[in-house]
Amino acid sequence: MKSIAIVGAGIMGNGIAQVAAEGNYKVFLYDVNAEGLEKGIARIEKTLSRNVEKKKIDQSQSDEIHGRITPTGNINDLKDVDLVIEAIIEQIEPKKSLLTELDGICKPSTIFASNTSGLSITEMASAVRRSDKVIGMHFFNPVPVMQLVEIIRGEQTSDETFEIAHQVAERFNKTAISVKEAPLFAVNRILTPMINEAIFVLSEGIASAEDIDKGMMLGASHPIGPLALTDLIGLDTMLFVAETLYNETNDSKYRPAPLLKKYVRAGRLGRKSGQGFFTYD
Ligand code: 3HC
Repeated sequence: MKSIAIVGAGIMGNGIAQVAAEGNYKVFLYDVNAEGLEKGIARIEKTLSRNVEKKKIDQSQSDEIHGRITPTGNINDLKDVDLVIEAIIEQIEPKKSLLTELDGICKPSTIFASNTSGLSITEMASAVRRSDKVIGMHFFNPVPVMQLVEIIRGEQTSDETFEIAHQVAERFNKTAISVKEAPLFAVNRILTPMINEAIFVLSEGIASAEDIDKGMMLGASHPIGPLALTDLIGLDTMLFVAETLYNETNDSKYRPAPLLKKYVRAGRLGRKSGQGFFTYD
């Protein structure tokens, strides 16, 4: 395994590209949107130069990592990579279409991994002929900082694909856990209801956004409050994730908080749009 392509240069995709390059892989970062691609590369450059300032790496290491990443808007550049990790919008149909397209472009041995937060790997695999080579590799935001990768097997994922995904996670300097395919897997299944409940607490006027976050940080030792965390993840992504849990389980206890929907409709998407539960420069 020498070369990896990341599809989608957004919050998750650019972080995955960075840790892949740090793991010594040759990396293609592909996005259909040229502006999004530019922003993704700029984000990586910012993180690398911060790491140089903090003396975690020196300038030549930073240049080497940067040099291993090739940004591209041409999907055909991905034809010879050994692994593709997709990190596009959190919706099943666009993910399936992308995989079908890649199935026609990439060499037969290329493995397809999805960074989905909780959609079905088995359903994604149904969109390609190589269903034994489809797997979930779920990273956490911010990717360069968070240690975990959840590895999720679909119904037809082979033992070999599963082993390779574990080896790749290790080369990325991450710790992998194996999780059975189920709506939202393990971590988001636990985290999402907590975040959703925090939004209900806010909308019911029980406490202010600042106090909810202060409460969970000081009273439950969370490193960041649930509302600031939602701003970091993106309210739109959080809503997709919450809707997956609700729709897949049909259990009303998981219904997404109406305030979350309202903010997404208003374009309050969190840090990336400058405003979510809090306001950013
Ligand atoms: N990229 C790279 N590095 C970053 C970063 C980013 N976006 N954000 C912060 N960092 C680094 C900082 O440079 C700093 O590094 P240092 O220790 O070497 O100085 C370190 O992280 C700590 O950052 P700060 O001092 O600025 O701020 P905090 O101490 O508040 O840490 C945080 C920020 C790491 C985001 C911390 O608040 C945290 O761990 N929060 C929890 C994050 C979390 O729960 N993520 C999971 C979300 S769920 C998910 O992603 C699943 C998806 O499917 C929805």
